[in-house]
Amino acid sequence: MNIARRKFLTLGAVGAVGLALSVSGCSQRAGTDATATGSGSGAGAAAGGFAAGSLIGVSLPQKTSQNWEDAQRLFPEKLKAAGFESQVQFANSGVAEQQSQISALITRGAKALIIGPIDGSQLGSQLAQAKAAGIPVISYDRMITNSADVNYLVTFQPDKVGELQGQSLLQGLEAKAGHPAPYNVELFAGSPDDNNARIFFEGAMKVLQPKIDDGTLKVPSGQVSFQQAATQGWDPKTAQNRMDSILTANYSGATLDGVLSPNDTIARALITSITNAGKPVPPMTGQDSDPESIKLIKDGVQYSTIDKPTLSQVDASVEIVKQLAAGQKVSVTNGESDNGVTKIPTDFLDPTLVTSANLAEVYGKDPVRGPIATGQG
Ligand code: BGC
Repeated sequence: MNIARRKFLTLGAVGAVGLALSVSGCSQRAGTDATATGSGSGAGAAAGGFAAGSLIGVSLPQKTSQNWEDAQRLFPEKLKAAGFESQVQFANSGVAEQQSQISALITRGAKALIIGPIDGSQLGSQLAQAKAAGIPVISYDRMITNSADVNYLVTFQPDKVGELQGQSLLQGLEAKAGHPAPYNVELFAGSPDDNNARIFFEGAMKVLQPKIDDGTLKVPSGQVSFQQAATQGWDPKTAQNRMDSILTANYSGATLDGVLSPNDTIARALITSITNAGKPVPPMTGQDSDPESIKLIKDGVQYSTIDKPTLSQVDASVEIVKQLAAGQKVSVTNGESDNGVTKIPTDFLDPTLVTSANLAEVYGKDPVRGPIATGQG
């Protein structure tokens, strides 16, 4: 995954605007000087490596979307193929459970940790414990903040995910609204404790805010800030209830022309709310290539999703583990992320916007999604 693009992504959780910066052409080859944290050595120290058959701990959040289900299946398979033992755990009851699961993985002798945090800001003491034990930490999909003890990040460029969502909402409005601007839209975001959620929203607003400012877009609810748009825990029911209230309060005599939804799970809940209110479903964005949403895109109900193949993200993480085990310098990163405390060598993967226009092309070879996309599922 070592592609030519250089990226630098800054923390999304603490600032107000414009935090996701891309510095293409940056001369320093980020990540190449990052080395493994071998047994007993400090962060950035020369790698000690670890043996075939070592335990790799994978700690994931609640299954708030299909991609986490896919990760549950793929991590054991891919780590096994690479010659490692694995333990994959989900913290279904929240942050405290994830903290104790990570501590337990350390105690059990994991040689590397792959962590998709629920709340990336609350793992500082567990990561300090990992560092003290010489265990490298790979932040998976979501950035771990508030800690210097994160060695790598593997993620689909979250700023680009948001920009693609914003662009597709505009495209959808132009193609489907059936009338000239202004268009009435409503905005939804993910969970405030997930660092990705703010970056997704800010990426989308980079595209949408100028259109709000010039009057092309109206937001009848007036709810335009991240705090107002956020959905705690990525909970679809919470988003659905908020949409119910927005429709009741603002749309008795107005048309809803489009919706920014941060992912497919929430998109489907919003579609339910709009349908229950007896209104036509307008262009609706999404994310994750959920099979159920691919069907809705095929049927013209949901407008778009963002494809972030879990297989690529798992493979990229396992590649780092393999290099760490071999005691090599990790060479598969292609940029850096600033988590507010340290710069994390990062493997940025490319997200793809999917609409009915490229559905078959994007999922053609996927054994689950392909048949849905081509109408045989
Ligand atoms: C992931 C998304 C996912 C969301 C909810 C985010 O951090 O990047 O793909 O939809 O979490 O699970």
